[in-house]
Amino acid sequence: MTAAPNLTGLRHRRILVVDDELALRKGLAQRFEDEGAEVTTADTVTLARKSLKEGDFDLVVLDHRMPDGTGLALLEEQKRQGAAATFIMMTAYSSTEDAIRAMKAGAADYLLKPFDLDELVLVAERALENVALKSEVTRLRARAVGAGGSANIVGKSRAMAELRALVERVAASGARTILITGESGTGKDVVARAIHASSPEGGRPFLDITCTALPEALLESELFGHEKGAFTDAKSAKRGLFEEAEGGTIFLDEIGDMPLSLQAKLLRFLESKSFRRVGGLKEIKVDVRVIAATHRRLPELVATGQFRGDLYYRLNVIPIEIPPLKERPEDIQDLLEHFARHYSRELKKELSSFDAAALARLTRHPWPGNVRELRNCVERAVLLAHGPLLTVADLPPEMRRGDADPAVAAASGGPFILPERGVVLEDAIRSLLDQALVRTAGNKSRAATLLGVHRDQVRYWVKKYGLERWVRRKTKAEATR
Ligand SMILES: Nc1ncnc2c1ncn2[C@@H]1O[C@H](COP(=O)(O)OP(=O)(O)O)[C@@H](O)[C@H]1O
Ligand SMILES: [Mg+2]
Repeated sequence: MTAAPNLTGLRHRRILVVDDELALRKGLAQRFEDEGAEVTTADTVTLARKSLKEGDFDLVVLDHRMPDGTGLALLEEQKRQGAAATFIMMTAYSSTEDAIRAMKAGAADYLLKPFDLDELVLVAERALENVALKSEVTRLRARAVGAGGSANIVGKSRAMAELRALVERVAASGARTILITGESGTGKDVVARAIHASSPEGGRPFLDITCTALPEALLESELFGHEKGAFTDAKSAKRGLFEEAEGGTIFLDEIGDMPLSLQAKLLRFLESKSFRRVGGLKEIKVDVRVIAATHRRLPELVATGQFRGDLYYRLNVIPIEIPPLKERPEDIQDLLEHFARHYSRELKKELSSFDAAALARLTRHPWPGNVRELRNCVERAVLLAHGPLLTVADLPPEMRRGDADPAVAAASGGPFILPERGVVLEDAIRSLLDQALVRTAGNKSRAATLLGVHRDQVRYWVKKYGLERWVRRKTKAEATR
């Protein structure tokens, strides 16, 4: 089910009206308020700039000629700074040139004075509607190519196939609370984003915050916002992430480290869908999907009193657990190839794949840092690679050491790496000889070619290692076939 975007109306829109003429300013503000908008006014460029800095507006209706500067200069400045608001410029009828310049500077539309208020409302609605349509188009396009959706979860293991299916189900279900657990680097971020992107709210904001990143008081005001004067630095009111994420998703990473007092506030929000800003009295209601993640074991934290049991049960309605990479080795090769392609493109290198020795080394690695470690490892290898193949030499030092498998190295033409604890060379020779004889069905001449030695050398080794009987048997079997 896809909720149709609300494309019309000015209800609840935040509008800034900037004009130095009192009567006009009042008239515009009144009309917008009648339409259900929240209006702020400014009579100078300076004041407008201050308002823009403090609050966020959906729409700015801007006069051109002002006592302390031009609206056009303010518009250009705001666009340079990446302002998200939609701007409509008002210019005198005699200066259509200004209107054209305003459009070039990024204004959504312009109004030639004098205009009537119905025309104003129409232009404002149309401008906001275009913005909504544009983001809707982006969203649909993103969904069409699967960008950010479950297709981003790479891996052919059964666990990953089930995870992709679960992500799609959860996204479509309209579930409001989801808990993702898994070791660090297993893909918790990827899964959270995939759920959001695959959901009908995919075009709405996805805001994430790591609960360990800020001291408690700052984290609270970041999440829930604060009123003006709530604390010393609170010079103006500020909306928190819960308000900003309205209609979308808030991703609370490292929830296991959230301070207990905030856990209480979060629980209250999950139960009532409303909260108060820091220093505020008003209950603010928002509809937000909450995805929490942690690499810690919450039941253990509950047992030791570091995490609220009631919050844990509330979050755990839809648990998603991502297994560590070492439990799904079938995914390693897919991930290696995925990131090799990714970084080849990004670093503009012509790479086809990994050579056999490197691949053997990489698939046997236990990956304690999970996919993140693998990704970093591939990035480094691609950066260092000279030829079209990534080799053991391009792997991090700790991965180049370790138990070299001479058979694998030989199969790929080396390089042979001496393991830290040394090798028994005779064993290596014997193992290679064995394999050469198996492959050539006991033909000593061809085995010698495979091993790069004279036939007499093979004859000598066969004798030395007592393989004659085996070779004879093999040769006979071959002859009677
Ligand atoms: N299944 C996966 N498919 C593709 N990329 C993945 C997968 N799992 C993890 N990654 C990548 O590995 C890195 C770490 O993943 P992340 O989601 O940040 O892990 P976590 O949040 O669990 O610590 C990211 O760069 C992410 O893109
Ligand atoms: Mg993470």
